[in-house]
Amino acid sequence: MDFRGAHIISVKQFERADVDKLFSVADKMEPYAHREKITKILDGAILGNMFFEPSTRTRFSFGCAFNLLGGDVRETTDVKSSSISKGESLYDTARVISGYSDVIVMRHPQVGSVAEFSKASRVPVINGGDGSNEHPSQALLDLYTIKKELQSNNRDIDGMNIAMIGDLKHGRTVHSLSQLLMQYKNITITLISPKELCMPKDIVADLVTSGHKVTETEDMESGLNDNDTIYLTRIQEERFTTKLEADIYRGRFRLNQAIYTRNCQPNTVIMHPLPRDSREDANELDNDLNQHPNLAIFRQTDNGVLVRMALFALILDVTDRVDESANKVSWYTEGRF
Ligand code: NCD
Repeated sequence: MDFRGAHIISVKQFERADVDKLFSVADKMEPYAHREKITKILDGAILGNMFFEPSTRTRFSFGCAFNLLGGDVRETTDVKSSSISKGESLYDTARVISGYSDVIVMRHPQVGSVAEFSKASRVPVINGGDGSNEHPSQALLDLYTIKKELQSNNRDIDGMNIAMIGDLKHGRTVHSLSQLLMQYKNITITLISPKELCMPKDIVADLVTSGHKVTETEDMESGLNDNDTIYLTRIQEERFTTKLEADIYRGRFRLNQAIYTRNCQPNTVIMHPLPRDSREDANELDNDLNQHPNLAIFRQTDNGVLVRMALFALILDVTDRVDESANKVSWYTEGRF
């Protein structure tokens, strides 16, 4: 794909070579993300960060990524304080905000809303999550993390074993990650969920067509065996008609130190897109694993900044000029605290 000026709506836009390119740019962003170098390459550019659903890390990390490249960020963070609450159409909002911004990130509860918005936008739009459909930047950072974590075990994405656990019906992160994995070879995928919350049938069928081995089960403990990576997800309460309906499934699959040690390989990497639901009755990923060296959830969030910086740099076509505009000595010269 040509990244320049592109909308990023779905992982289906990416071929394997595009993912490789993005990851190599992400690697180059490390000194900037770590404040060892400063760049002002996006000085004067504005990111319109439009989040019409709750978000902490996606919104914040897109904003930080843009700031780290020298750009400014303007935000709308809920429907109530935006003109959408006065009945404004996505078309009008897109026309207006794209007049103020150089690139837009948008999250919205409706499936397909970001694609619709992008059609009216005069600047590139990145999908920050459209309902239960897709979350492409999360899938890219997840895959980047998987690649890095497996490298230290001499494993690769091709041929790996991964289990995805939880609300696979409504979880947009697992939808996008699964679709991105279709670019790779011979993956063994175990999908662990209550039957009612299983992965959409079309995604499972496409995974099988791509040559992957897919098993679906409700038995978490047996599904945890033999995996390079396990990817846990939250019950997506906001996608159910009532909270009571979500309560039926809450806490059904929990990972803690004892279950991990009993069922997983010594090197199995533990991932979660976050937020994890730490309420007593949910607790899908227990705090007793917080110090475990294989818990990659905070490396995942750190990687999110690198991958989002790379997306901006490629879309706004400044990758070759990031280093040129760099000030080699940043305000922080002694290493971080
Ligand atoms: C996810 C999302 O919003 O889809 N969070 C995120 O962006 N990291 C997962 C979730 O909310 O469960």
